[in-house]
Amino acid sequence: MKKMDRNHFIKTCGVSCLGLIAGASFLESCAGVQYVNAPIRDTFLELPLSEFQLPNESQGFRKYVVVQNEKLQYPISVFRNEDETYQALYMRCTHQGTELQVFGDRLQCPAHGSEFTKNGDVQNGPADENLRLFPITSNENTLRIDLS
Ligand code: FES
Repeated sequence: MKKMDRNHFIKTCGVSCLGLIAGASFLESCAGVQYVNAPIRDTFLELPLSEFQLPNESQGFRKYVVVQNEKLQYPISVFRNEDETYQALYMRCTHQGTELQVFGDRLQCPAHGSEFTKNGDVQNGPADENLRLFPITSNENTLRIDLS
């Protein structure tokens, strides 16, 4: 009888621990998203590079930020690579147009599960077209994302 109680206790704790870990990962991914309202000048969305800096400089840089502007129908996710190159991706699923969500280094569609890499390539369908990529230029302080 004692052994059964112990097994039950271990199983219950195991399930609870998994739940805590999953919950912590979910919160971490939500808390990690930096949303930025950036201005559009001419046909360029202008994103300050400082948006990638984490509050504590020793923590390094964000891997991506999500950029919004009232003139954009969908946000744009901008990924920062280790070599300080960037990709800007339109967060519109190429299957049926649902807004995508960013998780780590990929984008997922909540409607039917399509997945895309941070380069915009389809990883899993049903989508069969890559995401729209925007050309980027930069100066010392700002990324200019060409929307034309
Ligand atoms: S709308 Fe994105 S997978 Fe269908």
